[in-house]
Amino acid sequence: MINDLSGYLAYLSKKGRAATIREKVSTECEISAITNLENRTHRNESRALVFENVDGYDMPVATNLLGSLPTLSELFNQLPLSDLILKMHTAGKMEMLKGAKAVMDSKPKISASLSGYKRLGGLDELPVLKVWPKDSGRFITLPLVITNSPSDGSTNVGIYRMQVFDSETTGMHWQSQKGGAIHAAEAAEAGTALKVSVAIGTDPYNLMAAVAPLPQGINEFAFSGMMRGSSTNLVRNGEYPAVPSNSEIVINGHVDGEKKMEGPFGDHTGYYSIPEPAHVFHVDAIYAKEHPIYAASVVGFPWSEDAVAAEFLSGYLKPMIKAVNSSIVDIYLPSEGAFTNMCFISIKKRFPGDAKKAMFGILGLGQLSLTKIVVAFDDDVNIRDLSTAMWALSTRVDPERDIQIIKGTSTDSLDHASSISAYGSKVLIDATKKTREEGYARGWPETISMDGPVESEAEKKWKRIK
Ligand SMILES: Cc1cc2nc3c(=O)[nH]c(=O)nc-3n(C[C@H](O)[C@H](O)[C@H](O)COP(=O)(O)O)c2cc1C
Repeated sequence: MINDLSGYLAYLSKKGRAATIREKVSTECEISAITNLENRTHRNESRALVFENVDGYDMPVATNLLGSLPTLSELFNQLPLSDLILKMHTAGKMEMLKGAKAVMDSKPKISASLSGYKRLGGLDELPVLKVWPKDSGRFITLPLVITNSPSDGSTNVGIYRMQVFDSETTGMHWQSQKGGAIHAAEAAEAGTALKVSVAIGTDPYNLMAAVAPLPQGINEFAFSGMMRGSSTNLVRNGEYPAVPSNSEIVINGHVDGEKKMEGPFGDHTGYYSIPEPAHVFHVDAIYAKEHPIYAASVVGFPWSEDAVAAEFLSGYLKPMIKAVNSSIVDIYLPSEGAFTNMCFISIKKRFPGDAKKAMFGILGLGQLSLTKIVVAFDDDVNIRDLSTAMWALSTRVDPERDIQIIKGTSTDSLDHASSISAYGSKVLIDATKKTREEGYARGWPETISMDGPVESEAEKKWKRIK
């Protein structure tokens, strides 16, 4: 049982998937540079790093907590949730309703007061990282930002970077479609400030739930309870949204509509983000455990840990996507596409136009709707292998017939290529084999392959070649 961040690090250590760095390191790009080297070298099997001797701080810093695909598979694939999603997919509406009920039933348990925490004086006491040399400052990069909807009281948890402006304020980089931003918009409409709690350092279940693109209205802490197999324990501090009781650091504060320029920040697109106005988060109080560990994430050019988490989650959420469209066989977000820039699907085509139907479906689904380039392949293509996917893309597409550009759509605000922030166009590419019914009259050529018996005989002889 992993109860908190220390327990998670102990678990990773036992598996050889965590390393401790005892040499003195700086928060100014050095911790991030070492983490980046670990990611570039070991990609999706990289270790969590614990920096014990951080120059100027008496708090250790842990990075790369989600960088190991084997760990994510171990922790999350065994759990009843995958079964549940599959059941939801195969058994139709009734099971789907039961699935939704199970999420609702695994309600978090909330206790009344934040005890056993000490109060800190300001943000300066936290070893917040400057990640890339041209970042506009130091950024809290792995905060669980918790808000309650002013309209219906529902809770949202998301990870949104927070640029430290001074010891009492930060930016709050929630993109306008994300849960926290929707709550802030509701508060602005009601003319009130929005109370926000920020939890830094918790168990991997709460962390993954915060990252997962759950439908609006599903409580991430109920979801983390399901993944863990036991309810999430939360603790309330006055009027502020309740935080996980195993949080290393808790920041209570509010946003009141004030905005300030935020960025540039070296992001997972591989570029520095273009500075834009972001909400100002006003810190009301900071609390920390007796010996807290500060958790941070380092993102940049793929691969980084967010690419690992996204790759894992795209597999995890596949049954839900298949439940929406049964023609879809697989879905893959190549990390080279920075999650929202590119989405591959493979389909078992059932009727003329099925590929387009499936692609339009993707553009209507939660955070997948931000995707810029959607490509549909047949199910004989392994879309997880980029070289096979590129072969199919270049041999099955007639641009005039198979490429559709859709103008005037909402896009990911991190995509700097569109002329207007968060507003641009999308492209749908149908890379499936075209049928007669779809107007292709020439007779689609067969893909080359050896006959089975010849192939196996040849293989035996080939292996004997010295
Ligand atoms: C390390 C990391 C940093 C992230 N930073 C941001 C961010 O600054 N802004 C943002 O809107 N989403 C960011 N995300 C993605 C959101 O956390 C993710 O989309 C989540 O599903 C949002 O949840 P929500 O839909 O409940 O808001 C980040 C994710 C990770 C893993």
